[in-house]
Amino acid sequence: MRYNKKSVENIDVAQKKALVRCDFNVPQDANGVITADKRIVESLPTLKYLLDRGAAVIACSHLGRPKGQFNPKYSLAPVAERLADLLGKPVVFANDVVGEDAKAKANALRPGEIMLLENVRFHAEEEKNDSGFAKQLAEMADFFVNDAFGTAHRAHASTAGVADHLPAVCGFLIQKEIGIMGRALENPKRPFLAVLGGVKVSDKIGVINSLIEKCDTILIGGAMAYTFKKACGRPIGTSKCEEDKLELAKDLMLAALGKGVRFLLPSDQLVSDHFGPDAKPVAVRDIPDDMMGMDIGPETAERYADEIKRAGTVVWNGPMGVFEFPDFAEGTQTVARALSKADAVSILGGGDSAAAAEKFGFADRMDHVSTGGGASLEFLEGLELPGIACLADK
Ligand code: 3PG
Repeated sequence: MRYNKKSVENIDVAQKKALVRCDFNVPQDANGVITADKRIVESLPTLKYLLDRGAAVIACSHLGRPKGQFNPKYSLAPVAERLADLLGKPVVFANDVVGEDAKAKANALRPGEIMLLENVRFHAEEEKNDSGFAKQLAEMADFFVNDAFGTAHRAHASTAGVADHLPAVCGFLIQKEIGIMGRALENPKRPFLAVLGGVKVSDKIGVINSLIEKCDTILIGGAMAYTFKKACGRPIGTSKCEEDKLELAKDLMLAALGKGVRFLLPSDQLVSDHFGPDAKPVAVRDIPDDMMGMDIGPETAERYADEIKRAGTVVWNGPMGVFEFPDFAEGTQTVARALSKADAVSILGGGDSAAAAEKFGFADRMDHVSTGGGASLEFLEGLELPGIACLADK
């Protein structure tokens, strides 16, 4: 998908009020403490740009899936605090979204000041992209900035609907995400390699189809490898498998063959007799009937690392095994390590592979770690993202 959208740099922002949609959907522990603030940090360039140029910023976001109800568990109050720390200035927090508190605080906001609205998903109208709700949000501001790349695949009131009521442009994060990933897809340095993992083939059909058109090699890991292996007639024991996707898996492999794309499956794996943190790893080539695959094996991990070493561009989405269990983390860790050392342009779709790279300390050495999970997958699939499509063209 090609976009050529106006950004905050293409409009006059001084002395105006900006409604800025961020993706502050950050992980928290049981006490509500934010455990990873990458998404907040990545919003700073746009927020600082607007504040430094005399705009008043009304930031908004969702957090979790509160299903249209007020629920303190999903309050954005901890985000307001973290944002204030990172910006080094106060962030006014509104206790509601489009209610009296939000309206009064937005009204009183001066140039160079910032406020954060409460979770937009406390209103069921948000996910329904209700035009009345979008209008109420829009009425607080003079223009709309979407910088929530992670939510750009959702056509919601605060991500897309508001653009019907206000001049709408993108922020620097959206610009960076679509710039880097767009260039990699359109004009990749070759060989262009995709490393795809995760549990389900069904989650990745679109992206595999799209990458078959563009890549030179596709490496498969994670539980979805067992569906492909079974489709090839290989034994998979009690491994996870989508029985109803076996034909599809065959079709995808045939499509790759037809295009001359190398489509590699694991040649060995770490298996165990049950799923759990106490499971003991055994390296095997053929999976015994009573065992399940939990990670790619050492030979496969080395082979994949070697492919990565020789690549010009690598897109990685989805872990190679159950990396949450230390005994089955090696495959994912080897891929992350290889990518962190490679000369290739390295791009990580968000979600689990980004969390793994972070956990093993390799994330800083990648060229780009997307803030979008579902959004980056849909972008790589070539789908139109409503939160970007709605913005003004250059
Ligand atoms: C994400 O974490 O992928 C985004 O914030 C979108 O969240 P959602 O899947 O609940 O819409």
